[in-house]
Amino acid sequence: MKQDMILILDLGSEENPKIAREIRALGVYTEINAHDITATELAALPNVKGIILNGGPNRVVDGVEIDASEAVYDSGLPILSVDHKGSEAWPIDDEERKEVLNQFVFDECKAEANWNMENFINDQVELIRRQVGDKKVLLALSGGVDSSVVAALLIKAIGKQLTCVHVNHGLLRKGEPEQVVEVFRNQMDANLVYVDAVDRFLDKLEGVEEPEQKRKIIGAEFIRVFEEEARKLEGIKFLAQGTIYPDIIESGTKTVKAVKSHHNVGGLPEDLDFELVEPLKMLFKDEVRACGVALGLPDDMVYRQPFPGPGLGVRCLGAITRDRLEAVRESDAILREEFAAAGLEGQVWQYFTAVPEFKSVGVRDNVRTYDWPAIIRAVNTVDAMTAEVADIPFSVLQKITARITAEVKGINRVLFDLTPKPTGTIEWE
Ligand code: XMP
Repeated sequence: MKQDMILILDLGSEENPKIAREIRALGVYTEINAHDITATELAALPNVKGIILNGGPNRVVDGVEIDASEAVYDSGLPILSVDHKGSEAWPIDDEERKEVLNQFVFDECKAEANWNMENFINDQVELIRRQVGDKKVLLALSGGVDSSVVAALLIKAIGKQLTCVHVNHGLLRKGEPEQVVEVFRNQMDANLVYVDAVDRFLDKLEGVEEPEQKRKIIGAEFIRVFEEEARKLEGIKFLAQGTIYPDIIESGTKTVKAVKSHHNVGGLPEDLDFELVEPLKMLFKDEVRACGVALGLPDDMVYRQPFPGPGLGVRCLGAITRDRLEAVRESDAILREEFAAAGLEGQVWQYFTAVPEFKSVGVRDNVRTYDWPAIIRAVNTVDAMTAEVADIPFSVLQKITARITAEVKGINRVLFDLTPKPTGTIEWE
């Protein structure tokens, strides 16, 4: 293992991820750990150069003020105590805080700035090979950022010992299943099982109007299809997952209750007893993207906007029909093309179209039409808890409207959703 590490111990701070990010920005690897880390756990962490006792407002747990274990104080490692047992808090000013970190990390701990993607990838390849040996690994490859990067990393580490299963549930964006096949089977020569489950999902969803019911059906059916594929394969010992660091942090620490419960692949039956391989579990999202780029994945796969698990299923509002789902897919593709052409890709956090069930009267070539509207949603947000409507140039919206009404079957109007969150959620369902 090549990388030096600074250990952050959570002594009740609300800023553990922020400090972790700032240390990684200095080029030094860091991990957040619970305050009561044992001597054995500490000894198992490679290349620890120093420890930050990161205190803060959540310092009292079950009525007791917490402290680090004896092992930490006995380790002989340099310790920086912040907002803990009377020590000062972090300087609020960014530059001053950076100076404090710089001084501790480089002058006191003598850490080397050797945290970079090349070293990370080399270390992970070695760790994956050590964990997996000559056994086989299974991965549900959706084509989203996290599962794609896990796939690329595992292909590099163990090649054909990995089997990727891509379930096309018919609710993916235009071109996505084809891209998964092109990148992973054709370019990276991976073992890829492509499952065309479109009819199966759409049949199950027929006539179902209620959004949460739709989500449940899509989620449950996904697990069922994946499980069936897993049973067809012989001798799989490991399941790879695209868990990333925010998933782990958001699942809660010993001082902070969970922000949200998290499960990436929930609900596989107990008798499918896999060990987990989670090589990205210590990376923040932008680091996952950098890792993907370093592994040679295409930019549009690595920098894609967030896309909900139930996919276009929650954008084909109400009961899904095949023709209206096609209208969602085609209008979304045009929207993405025109946003890219206008230089808005990467500038707007999330943008898509939704198509409701109702129709309105229009006219085309002097003939009356009775068709659906396409609704454009384009929002900016930091954490998706609140969102504001993106300011899209009117000329871009006019161009998109002209194209959608001309090219997409069944659409005769285009609407722009002006509602921030709250009161609207980002998705319509
Ligand atoms: P809302 O609509 O709740 O969306 O404002 C916030 C963010 O979450 C995404 N989203 C989902 N992601 N499964 C997901 O994986 C879901 O069921 C789901 N619903 C919403 C949404 O796209 C937005 O980025």
